[in-house]
Amino acid sequence: MKKYNVAVIGVGVVGIEMLRVLKQRNFPIGELRVFARSSRDIDVDGQKYSVKPISPEGFEGIDIALFAGTEGEKGAAVTYANEAVKRGAVVIDNGADFRMDPDVPLVVPEVNAADVKKHKGIIANPNCSTIQMVVALNPIYKKVGIKRIIVTTLQASSGAGKAAVEQLWQETEEVILRSQKSENRSQKVLSSVFCSPSSEKPMPQQLAFNVFPHIGSFVEGDYTNEEWKLVKETHKIMHAPKIKISATTVRVPVRTGHSESVYIETVRPIAVDKVKAILSKAPGVILMDEPKNNLYPMPKDVEGRDETFVGRIRKDAFVKNGLWLWVVADNLRKGAATNAVQIAECVISSSK
Ligand SMILES: NC(=O)c1ccc[n+]([C@@H]2O[C@H](COP(=O)([O-])OP(=O)(O)OC[C@H]3O[C@@H](n4cnc5c(N)ncnc54)[C@H](OP(=O)(O)O)[C@@H]3O)[C@@H](O)[C@H]2O)c1
Repeated sequence: MKKYNVAVIGVGVVGIEMLRVLKQRNFPIGELRVFARSSRDIDVDGQKYSVKPISPEGFEGIDIALFAGTEGEKGAAVTYANEAVKRGAVVIDNGADFRMDPDVPLVVPEVNAADVKKHKGIIANPNCSTIQMVVALNPIYKKVGIKRIIVTTLQASSGAGKAAVEQLWQETEEVILRSQKSENRSQKVLSSVFCSPSSEKPMPQQLAFNVFPHIGSFVEGDYTNEEWKLVKETHKIMHAPKIKISATTVRVPVRTGHSESVYIETVRPIAVDKVKAILSKAPGVILMDEPKNNLYPMPKDVEGRDETFVGRIRKDAFVKNGLWLWVVADNLRKGAATNAVQIAECVISSSK
């Protein structure tokens, strides 16, 4: 079997998960190089990796470069992707910088694997919240069309990186410690034990014991750029630019696992049982929908899983062809690392 030299860039929450996924999926690796800003040795599930400082020359001889490095608002791929491509590598980038470039395919293998073949050196991995939504909706779209999507996301702290997970832990400890000192916890006015927002922190508000509708930065029409990603990326991946999409993205105090409350209006009518039948056979989807047994997907149960879980499927009570779904996936696995490695697998099989 042919082997491929692979580089992983970044050893934050996504980079570490990439190392795990490459190993778990037995990716045919010749040489593996791991880059970050500085060198160190790391241990992932008992396996040691030597991390080297990134440099253009480091990409010499690399076949596939999996980017999961952040540089402030931008990804490390802005500086290094073309250096890797110049040296013969195919770049798969987790950052947002190339996703809407018309020369860069944006791929979720369950939906548009064939787009991989159009690449000119760089392939983009979509935003975590987009990936799980299109995996769940594309099978319905293919069957009966979709004309409208209204989605509210409930996104975990790890979606904002390693430092955001740390912020959630620290704030949680801080609030618990402070409230333990008060005489009656349930009566306590919580604002007096809350942490103040700080521009130094990765998240703009306190997340412990709180939720806030603010992911990314506020841009056009007072939506956030995270909300526009769900709109534009869905259009591009599903090749369906006419679907009317509105999103509200919310950060919730969950470590890992994004949830989405999704409303759709289909073009043609479809019964709930039929939707369930389609999704139970759809690639990468697990139907978990037994409300009478309290069975529906939750982030705590999907952590570490590669599939997208769907439940709470029901008809809208007032709108013809209106349907509601609850969609949950691990943002670090299917939302990032697993999808990127699946794209790499598509690159290999399309080059055979
Ligand atoms: N978290 C998610 O759920 C998710 C989902 C989809 C996409 N993404 C995207 O995936 C990327 C990584 O996110 P993350 O959540 O893993 O971030 P993270 O936990 O903050 O980790 C960032 C990593 O990037 C490295 N890095 C920063 N600048 C670099 C540079 N110039 N060259 C090489 N490495 C550099 C850092 O190196 P040091 O360790 O040396 O500081 C660190 O290891 C981002 O582009 C993000 O938007 C994240």
